Amino acid sequence: MSSSFFLVSPTLGLGDTLVQILLISLLLLIPSNTIASNGTETERDVLALLSFKSLIWNDPSGALSSWNVSVHHCRWYGIRCGRRHPNRVTALDLNSLQLSGQISSSLANLTFLQRLSLSDNRLSGRIPELGQMMRLRFLNLSVNYLDGTIPPLPGNCSLEYFSLRTNNLKGVVPSNIVQCKKLTVINLNHNFLVGSISPGLGFLQQLTMLSLSVNNLNGTIPATLGNLSNLYILDLYQNHFTGVIPASLGQLQSLQWIQISDNLLS
Ligand SMILES: *[C@@H]1O[C@H](CO)[C@@H](O)[C@H](O)[C@H]1NC(C)=O
Ligand SMILES: *[C@@H]1O[C@H](CO)[C@@H](O)[C@H](O)[C@H]1NC(C)=O
Ligand SMILES: *[C@@H]1O[C@H](CO)[C@@H](O)[C@H](O)[C@H]1NC(C)=O
Ligand SMILES: *[C@@H]1O[C@H](CO)[C@@H](O)[C@H](O)[C@H]1NC(C)=O
Ligand SMILES: *[C@@H]1O[C@H](CO)[C@@H](O)[C@H](O)[C@H]1NC(C)=O
Ligand SMILES: *[C@@H]1O[C@H](CO)[C@@H](O)[C@H](O)[C@H]1NC(C)=O
Ligand SMILES: *[C@@H]1O[C@H](CO)[C@@H](O)[C@H](O)[C@H]1NC(C)=O
Repeated sequence: MSSSFFLVSPTLGLGDTLVQILLISLLLLIPSNTIASNGTETERDVLALLSFKSLIWNDPSGALSSWNVSVHHCRWYGIRCGRRHPNRVTALDLNSLQLSGQISSSLANLTFLQRLSLSDNRLSGRIPELGQMMRLRFLNLSVNYLDGTIPPLPGNCSLEYFSLRTNNLKGVVPSNIVQCKKLTVINLNHNFLVGSISPGLGFLQQLTMLSLSVNNLNGTIPATLGNLSNLYILDLYQNHFTGVIPASLGQLQSLQWIQISDNLLS
């Protein structure tokens, strides 16, 4: 509770003890108050969300105005909490709200998160660490101004949907993506990614969409992609791929749409 109080206090005048005492009394009086709820993990979730809010400097629709301590954090706009762990945040959904600012690195502490969707805003800065989000199934940060590199994906990866398209991301696709066996969508188009396609992507049997177009990827197109029997979109347009188009791609029975032009293929 004291740490939560420190997050609130900088907005008050430093010498404003009376207001601070009133605020403490208020927090103590509200039994359903988020800060006073169960245990340190819940407190960490609340602190992570307040930190997220503190780095958003423009919120024209006022979506985050409900994010205040007089409302239980599970009822804040865009937040969903768990059923078995009722105070733990399982979803953060704030799309197309014209939010400007950075994504707080403290989101890394939302270890129960299953769904993180902040797409189609004006968010800049880096993607928070995802390593502790063992339950993350859905990640959509597409259509923002995010830069830096893509952090490693969660260890025991449960990701099904992975879209970071249309940002300013650099560096390589995290190599541990090949461990995310449940992935159905990988959409990373329109970034500045380098490196090559891991042959391991050909073993992600659930993949329906692989879109890597308009990046700076190089190397050859792995023949293993021909094993993706559920793939219906393969989009590798505008990169620096070399070599030949593997004959194995002819086995892709579900394929509806393929775009490989504007590369350095022979
Ligand atoms: C509070 O935490 C305890 C132990 O961590 C847990 O057994 C209990 O179900 C939790 N209660 C709520 C309301 O989350
Ligand atoms: C907190 O959020 C609630 C719900 O949106 C709103 O009615 C209330 O005015 C807010 N309180 C403050 C102090 O902003
Ligand atoms: C996670 O929470 C702990 C405890 O509140 C804090 O010390 C740490 O800085 C947080 N991590 C991040 C990345 O903010
Ligand atoms: C991800 O975000 C983009 C941009 O807002 C949106 O077009 C797309 O439908 C989202 N994906 C899903 C599965 O909701
Ligand atoms: C990995 O995930 C599986 C199923 O989701 C779970 O049973 C297992 O305990 C997890 N392992 C670790 C090390 O978290
Ligand atoms: C791919 O590009 C990197 C630099 O981004 C370079 O170091 C590497 O040698 C290139 N690989 C191939 C196969 O062209
Ligand atoms: C995947 O494709 C490669 C190359 O086409 C092939 O050698 C390999 O046996 C395939 N693996 C599986 C599991 O189908």
